[in-house]
Amino acid sequence: MSLDIVILAAGQGTRMRSALPKVLHPVAGRSMLGHVIHSARQLTPVGIHVVIGHGAEKVREAFQADDIRFVLQAEQLGTGHAVAQAQPQLASATTLVLYGDVPLIQPATLEALLAKASETSLALLTVQLADPTGYGRIIRDAQGRVEAIVEHKDATEVQRQVREGNTGILALPTALLEGWMARLSNNNAQGEYYLTDIIAMAVADGLVVATETAAEPMEVQGANDRRQLAELERFYQQREAERLMAAGVTLRDPKRLDIRGEVIAGRDVLIDVNVVLEGRVVIEDDVQIGANVVIRDSVLKRGAVIKPFTHLEGATVGAGADAGPFARLRPGTVLEENAHVGNFVELKNTRMGPGAKAGHLSYLGDADVGARTNIGAGTITCNYDGANKFRTELGEDVFIGSNNALVAPVMVGNGATTAAGSTITTDVPAANLGVARARQRNIEGWKRPEKKKP
Ligand code: UD1
Ligand code: MG
Repeated sequence: MSLDIVILAAGQGTRMRSALPKVLHPVAGRSMLGHVIHSARQLTPVGIHVVIGHGAEKVREAFQADDIRFVLQAEQLGTGHAVAQAQPQLASATTLVLYGDVPLIQPATLEALLAKASETSLALLTVQLADPTGYGRIIRDAQGRVEAIVEHKDATEVQRQVREGNTGILALPTALLEGWMARLSNNNAQGEYYLTDIIAMAVADGLVVATETAAEPMEVQGANDRRQLAELERFYQQREAERLMAAGVTLRDPKRLDIRGEVIAGRDVLIDVNVVLEGRVVIEDDVQIGANVVIRDSVLKRGAVIKPFTHLEGATVGAGADAGPFARLRPGTVLEENAHVGNFVELKNTRMGPGAKAGHLSYLGDADVGARTNIGAGTITCNYDGANKFRTELGEDVFIGSNNALVAPVMVGNGATTAAGSTITTDVPAANLGVARARQRNIEGWKRPEKKKP
């Protein structure tokens, strides 16, 4: 069954009180419209048509992709009017209508809905609500067949008792849409062209109106203000936490983990409180992540240990390696097996070979550190001359003394040592000692200056 998807995203979202168009507000690090497009793509439609209006240019810029067609709805005259703008470019058998501010809808729910739509039937996604105020009500006849949707503002007191609400999401035979659109009127309480009016038209045309009920109301919840946005965020985070726990991850507190991207986790992983995972994060078996750690686009291999207050971005931490507390691993950092990075150490574009160590207070940028090499406290790679970057290459089993400045480009050979406090500007051959500091002299009988009498 060929499918077109229309996503309504033209509304203003006044209650967000924001310069950002409503559908660009993020849930779990991705815009609400981004979530809807992501789910839409999983249904492999022929076309995705996004109806834009308020903030149209910003929305267009945020989603430059070949498979998305934008339709401008210059004036927001109602949901029916919005779909009518897209109608001329719909060519598939079935059209599915989604909303840019209903981000958590799941492909499986939409597939169940689509299974009930055909050339002779329209399928509505409905939801049972404790308080249906504001929703369109699903009006059924004595046999339980859907007759119409009546908007809250147009409903009688009796109709308002109905708890079955319209989510707005529906699937319909595209061929009939043009005729229905032509028959819409705005003669109602809100003076809008209601998409929901097509339900009574479909019934009159002899179509079956089937319904599918959303099992999880949060899936069909929209965000009109920041409070609802926060509710969607918490629901999303709870679902992600449950997914990780089901996969064998221990969360010290499922409410204090935030996932803003795609996390793949193995078994017997331990995640302490206040951890934020962003982008694509791969966590292998037996990894431990301490409290207050932020990890973005990184890979943690088996048994790696990330200690509290550590920040990782674009890093790979090898099996059994550890970092932190208070370490910063910037893009291009690779810690190989059992490497160790301690407190207040910053690495960028640097490889630490197997078992290499940088225990305290260092900056290593554009460096290659060989196996088992030890970097003394306070060591800095001087990798930047203000214009260009240069590399520092340290061999295996090197011992860099404390408080060294390694002025790149520079190499230190296997097994070499540098003296504490050295400024290393030329290569140190293997097994040599490099000393590059002023020699100490002691002055005997030195008298300290005395304070002058007034
Ligand atoms: C709509 C439904 C209602 C349903 C409710 C669920 C209609 C007439 N009513 O009501 O039955 O219970 O959603 O939340 O469809 N939009 C446009 N262009 C427009 C108007 C709206 O793009 O001209 C977009 C909005 O940005 C929004 C969505 O469509 O994302 C829904 O519009 P809104 O006016 O909020 O619909 P409701 O009145 O809540
Ligand atoms: Mg409205």
